[in-house]
Amino acid sequence: MLNVPRARKTPPLPAPALRRWFRRRLLQWYDKHGRDLPWRETRDPYHILVSEVMLQQTQVDRVLPKYREWLDRYPTFEALAEAPEHDAVTTWYPLGYNIRPRRLHAIAREAVESYGGQLPQDEETLLSFKGIGEYTAGAIRSFAFGERAAILDTNVARVLFRVFVGRGDPKSHAMKRRLWDISWAVLPHKHVFDFNQALMDFGATVCSARAPQCQPCPLSSRCRTYPFDATSSRRASKVTTRS
Ligand code: ADE
Repeated sequence: MLNVPRARKTPPLPAPALRRWFRRRLLQWYDKHGRDLPWRETRDPYHILVSEVMLQQTQVDRVLPKYREWLDRYPTFEALAEAPEHDAVTTWYPLGYNIRPRRLHAIAREAVESYGGQLPQDEETLLSFKGIGEYTAGAIRSFAFGERAAILDTNVARVLFRVFVGRGDPKSHAMKRRLWDISWAVLPHKHVFDFNQALMDFGATVCSARAPQCQPCPLSSRCRTYPFDATSSRRASKVTTRS
């Protein structure tokens, strides 16, 4: 018999009814419990970019005062582009990872020199800037330009992995691709802004890494990791896997 390798099956994406359920539950939760954060009150691409770059490696509480201070000092790309780079690095203190203010400064100069002081909207150009990766490009497109664009940061990946996957290596490259596919699959056509913000908030507050609050969780009835076992950092062993 010929030994033909069988094609690996691509794991199925969540079924349409499950996607609808997930969106509805998450948006209802966000409506009640979503945090009021200043970058949720704006659609200005520069302001969104600043918030997302600050939030890349820093907690919300530490970003809040710096976000306000930064925008007071550099309210536009032009203002940032005119400042010396070392000024931007000093203003950034104490957020750390100082490559970030340098990159923001470089983006501001390029936006002014090549794009009339605006941030380009298309994904390819956004990704061409150092400091804007796949996640930040999705955040800018959905938050600033109202496009239907998926996101996947650590918090979002954790929520999607726990709810829809539940087993396997959450850190592997293949899993990351699968979670991006799931993020696209569950993304609604309307309310993209709120949905993506909700995913991030949910991961940061309810579905946290070490101590998720599974008891009041609105997604627990269909979550593949419920109930989370804090002692072994995974699903409790007595429970059969949900299909
Ligand atoms: N982390 C990254 N982006 C965020 C956002 N827009 N709101 C809260 N936390 C975030």
